[in-house]
Amino acid sequence: MSAATLLQTSLPDLKLLRRGKVRDVYEVDDDRLLIVATDRISAFDCVLPTPIERKGEVLTALSEFWFEKLGHVVANHLITSNIDEMPEPVQRERQALTGRSMLVRRSEVFPVECVVRGYLVGSGWKDYLRTGEVCGHKLPEGLLESAELTEPLFTPSTKAEQGHDENISEAQVRDLVGAEATERLRETSIRLYSEARRYARERGIIIADTKFEFGLDKNGTLTLVDEVLTPDSSRFWPADSYEPGRSQPSFDKQFVRDYLETLSWDKKPPAPAIPPEVAKATTERYVEAYRLLSGKEL
Ligand SMILES: Nc1ncnc2c1ncn2[C@@H]1O[C@H](COP(=O)(O)OP(=O)(O)OP(=O)(O)O)[C@@H](O)[C@H]1O
Ligand SMILES: [Mg+2]
Repeated sequence: MSAATLLQTSLPDLKLLRRGKVRDVYEVDDDRLLIVATDRISAFDCVLPTPIERKGEVLTALSEFWFEKLGHVVANHLITSNIDEMPEPVQRERQALTGRSMLVRRSEVFPVECVVRGYLVGSGWKDYLRTGEVCGHKLPEGLLESAELTEPLFTPSTKAEQGHDENISEAQVRDLVGAEATERLRETSIRLYSEARRYARERGIIIADTKFEFGLDKNGTLTLVDEVLTPDSSRFWPADSYEPGRSQPSFDKQFVRDYLETLSWDKKPPAPAIPPEVAKATTERYVEAYRLLSGKEL
């Protein structure tokens, strides 16, 4: 039996640092944070009022899976996702938090979203149509929408507190974090993405692009933080229906988007609720993504 759905946490004994669209982040102590993945879902940048059962569980299990799988590339912030190994104030809330929480090492996070793109989609596609480039990378003429790029591109952006992240050049990243760190962020991001995408492709999922965050831990070690290669931080496409020249269905959110497109909603908050059958089908997609990638049942 799976745990009840959860739209929002409130942990009386921990300080809430941040409530994102999907995750609630708490301070455990000076060195550790608790990242709780709720069952909130966003579409068109708005959080919906309807929870997606098991989504928080999938996000947590997938990040953990990738941390393990990619541990040889770079260190990461995960201490444990096992509630029994967490501090007492967390354990007191075990009913809400089990399966959806990561205890992590607090890091000094670089103020850059390390985006890697393997396919021509989203703002990259728009850039290309306008300029023939994606974030300053010149590309061949005549590429189709959703085309696979010969080399994955590092296309960093700012971490906007509010509103949309803004693409920045590598020169701007160097101004923010220095030349040496920039080089390491780029190299590490490309390596992580390349390995993950090869692995996922063999299992029926195209990871079209993704976003990593890195920090430095107490000892100054480069550390992969945040969530990793989840459907929320990446574009997952079903590989069997992939076809350049059009937009691709989203592996996880397509039912939600399709439903919302049937409404006259203006895509501004508050977002409408989605019907139970759409939510249920979406749960199945998230669970399926985990099963395909990890080879395990959730
Ligand atoms: N180890 C860490 N140390 C310090 N900060 C971290 C660490 N891991 C993740 N973070 C930060 O935690 C925050 C996670 O919250 P965020 O607002 O991204 O949640 P979200 O649900 O993904 O929301 P959104 O969809 O709006 O991005 C990010 O700002 C990230 O930089
Ligand atoms: Mg985020």
